[in-house]
Amino acid sequence: MEQSLVIVKPDGTLRRRVGALVIKILLDKGYKIRAFKEMKVPRSLAEKHYDIHKERPFFPWLVQFITSGRVLVMVFEGEDVIQGIRDALGATFVEKASPDSLRGKYGLIAGVNIAHASDSPDTAKNEIQLWTEHGGLEFSEDAEERAREYVQKYADSDADYTEELRSVIHEAISKEKTGHEVVESLKRLLSKDAEGIEEQEIEALASAIHATIEEQVEKAK
Ligand code: RTP
Ligand code: MG
Repeated sequence: MEQSLVIVKPDGTLRRRVGALVIKILLDKGYKIRAFKEMKVPRSLAEKHYDIHKERPFFPWLVQFITSGRVLVMVFEGEDVIQGIRDALGATFVEKASPDSLRGKYGLIAGVNIAHASDSPDTAKNEIQLWTEHGGLEFSEDAEERAREYVQKYADSDADYTEELRSVIHEAISKEKTGHEVVESLKRLLSKDAEGIEEQEIEALASAIHATIEEQVEKAK
């Protein structure tokens, strides 16, 4: 049976409800979960995971982003699970993702797009091997049960603050206003549904989002 490595990135995991909804929607599609782990990604693992992008200009930012705060790493299994999950996520960039896809609904800006999913059977095999060898990811009988408990615990909280975060981001871009105040607004919103998350993770994620805002402001000039 086909498997896919899925990572709810820090922008999805720090907003607990968003992470829970990603898992719920993929489980509702009928896929099984064979491995489930919440963890902070060591820099060396992030660099290996994104090795294919290492020559791209966005690589340092990508490593900064994925290591900013904890992630949820999972192995999903099912028929055509790789394409099925890629379809559910939507296009890479939040602005290009269809409004009913997961990235279209919950993504924040550009590559701050809530989740990663393997893009082919070969990639899936390599990524699963990488995360089991270097990330401590383990296949286990109770993985799905633990994931369902996560959904139960967080999916019903009152809000995910996507709209509020997007409006802070878009206002900063349109007014070309970056800096401390924007970071503080992002931190305040990112803290609202962040049970068990450390202050430092919120700070680091806000910085990674702010870097994207700055990039877009520069691009618009
Ligand atoms: P992923 O690997 O995270 O599932 O995303 P993907 O296949 O849809 O996109 P990919 O091309 O593999 O890019 C990996 C991640 O890098 C960030 N990105 N930023 N600023 C940029 O031009 C840029 N391009 C890519 C995104 O976070 C993307 O998901
Ligand atoms: Mg990719």
